[in-house]
Amino acid sequence: MLMRIKDGAGHPVASPYDYQRAGTVCATIFQIRGPLLLQDFHLIDLLSHFDRERIPERVVHAKGSGAHGYFEVTHDISNITMAAPFSEGVGTQVPLSMRFSTVAGESGSPDTNRDPRGFAIKMRTSQGIWDWVFNNTPVFFLRDPTKFPPFHPQRDPQTNLRNPTIQWDYWSQNQEAIYQIMILFSNRGTPKSWAQMHGWSGHTYKWVTADGNWHYVQLKITSQQGIENFNATEAKATAAENPDHNTQDLRDRIEAGNFPTWTVSVQTMTPEQSQKFRYDVNDLTKVWPEDEYPLLEVGKIVLNKNPENWFAEIEQLAFSPSNMVPGAEPSNDPVLQARLFSYPDTHRYRLGGNYLELPVNCPVAVRNFQRAGWARVDGGAGTLPPNAANYPSSFNPPVSFVKRPYNLSAIADPVTPGPAITQGTYELSLLDFEQPNTLYNKEFSDEERQSLVSNVIDALNSVTIQDIKQRSLNMFACVDDKLGAAIGTGVGLTPKCALKP
Ligand code: HEM
Repeated sequence: MLMRIKDGAGHPVASPYDYQRAGTVCATIFQIRGPLLLQDFHLIDLLSHFDRERIPERVVHAKGSGAHGYFEVTHDISNITMAAPFSEGVGTQVPLSMRFSTVAGESGSPDTNRDPRGFAIKMRTSQGIWDWVFNNTPVFFLRDPTKFPPFHPQRDPQTNLRNPTIQWDYWSQNQEAIYQIMILFSNRGTPKSWAQMHGWSGHTYKWVTADGNWHYVQLKITSQQGIENFNATEAKATAAENPDHNTQDLRDRIEAGNFPTWTVSVQTMTPEQSQKFRYDVNDLTKVWPEDEYPLLEVGKIVLNKNPENWFAEIEQLAFSPSNMVPGAEPSNDPVLQARLFSYPDTHRYRLGGNYLELPVNCPVAVRNFQRAGWARVDGGAGTLPPNAANYPSSFNPPVSFVKRPYNLSAIADPVTPGPAITQGTYELSLLDFEQPNTLYNKEFSDEERQSLVSNVIDALNSVTIQDIKQRSLNMFACVDDKLGAAIGTGVGLTPKCALKP
């Protein structure tokens, strides 16, 4: 059946290319001399929609893609959290959407670039949206939220070129980033496929049972496709050949019925254990060793549906760590707390104040007192009647509320006595190099150790200021003398860790 084309307001369109001009066609030759007519809605509609076609791309994680699927509860963890879907029993499935991304590149950049990968999941539970906005690394570059905006001077302000001198200047002055830098410059920094990488919460969260029993938790999502990485040469070649390699790979896997699957596990820590933990439980640059805090499998994720419209279903996805359900609470990790604000804020800018009304972001059932705003489509009350009062009415219609069964004060970390306000940042110490040392000596394969050394040498050799090169080299010497020496040989400098006697 032929589909009749209509303009943005539903009027039949006579011809896609016709437009209106003053005057008539000259009798001898096809020539209309008159100007365009403002009354021509079809042309004005076409042009004005085109003029507004681009929306701001994500300020970070702009390049990415994703798919839909489900999360299934595989183990009973009612002793850890009352959060849905876990509270609804083993076998419960909820629909989800997932988006993978690189961090620094713009939306058209190659998706195989050396970069951490975003690993974001939107679950549509009976208690509302629960977003897990994770990375493919267990730690992050920073633990002070004020460092996030300056940490991403992605391009030189004068030349608009990538500038490794700026990048290493920042890192060598903020060396708590070292663990993440080591992952980034090993082959783990260039995964072969979105489907072949693990995801981590990085942050500590709190999970709470209905009777108020709570644990600190971290989540890990383990790929069932195994892990495969490109080396530097392969990554560069793939980027040149197909900048959308990973986007294509995910689509092809799903189309072929090879549905990517991950298991979901949780690590738990009691408040008492956290007192004895060697590091701050809220320090995002630290891992919880799996031999001390074992992984407990809780669920699985399956991606089995490609988007039918990429813009509507993937580009308009708006994730936020603040989307939590009762039974899941934020920790006091200051970076997490900052993210609780930053994501909904950026969505209001990128997608508009009613971004939660977009079908891909819409919670299962909304019912509230918000009204109007740009591009409101539901009358403003979700599933309340359209004429419902915009306050808790006793009659129009009568409304009720559900309190969390636990007391938020009872699960809050104690605020230590002392000054009411403390201003500052975390301080760097040798403690910050212990886990990077373990990563280098015990967790990296020989290939990863070698790739780290050669990729860092390549990168540092393009740093143009000698002091920055030296300070960066010294940072690796704080991790391990052998590592410092190997990189030092490649850049022609002698390493010296300033923190070591
Ligand atoms: C203070 C620290 C951070 C700030 C201010 C921040 C801010 C942002 C912003 C503004 C976006 C763009 C969102 C959008 O336009 O849709 C974003 C994306 C993202 N961030 Fe962060 N971020 C921080 C740290 C982190 C950390 C620690 C992780 C992982 C553990 C992370 C994971 C992600 C992911 C996965 C995305 C992409 C989400 C998507 O696919 O739409 N971020 N971040």
